[in-house]
Amino acid sequence: MTARPWIVRSLVAIAVAGIVLAIGWSRLDGFRPLPLTEHSLRPDDPAVLALGEPIYVAHCAACHGAKLEGQPDWKQRRPDGRLPAPPHDETGHTWHHPDEQLVRMTRLGVARAAGLNDHASDMPAFEGVLTDAEIIAVLSWIKSRWPAAVRVQHDAINRRMHAGH
Ligand code: HEC
Repeated sequence: MTARPWIVRSLVAIAVAGIVLAIGWSRLDGFRPLPLTEHSLRPDDPAVLALGEPIYVAHCAACHGAKLEGQPDWKQRRPDGRLPAPPHDETGHTWHHPDEQLVRMTRLGVARAAGLNDHASDMPAFEGVLTDAEIIAVLSWIKSRWPAAVRVQHDAINRRMHAGH
């Protein structure tokens, strides 16, 4: 018994479609490797998280909340013109910033990080208080607390930044 030509043709068509799909899929954003830099957060590294959690408790929780919930009405400026501390969980906008910006804001405070010298802010500059490795560790711990879907979006933000747009 010989295979009928239409069966062969169908199998070839399916194989070609499979290859085209596989190539398309592998080019999708989520499958490109994340470019690693010296400031890349490492939310899957247990040693980094073990360093980061106590730093969060000691240096960030007083303002950003023990559960990363931020201060009440964090979008409303207070009478003194300053903003309350925003949450670092998925309801805030911390995860909208790529790794490098987060490191910079923590090192310099948000005003200097943004080059806004007249912006009065309660966010301290941690330069001289925490090393860069400690800053990366605490931010990695914060990222480790985000839901998987938010972490995937944050990875995509990092990729876009490195792609130059
Ligand atoms: C004394 C209170 C205080 C402490 C302590 C503090 N922050 Fe903040 N933080 C703030 C405030 C207030 C803002 C918003 C400032 C603004 O926009 O003027 C902020 C903003 C930020 C932002 C920017 C968030 C965004 O969505 O733009 C990051 C990142 C951040 N803090 C990280 C940290 C980390 C990490 C620590 C601990 C190492 C920390 N902060 C400790 C008060 C604090």
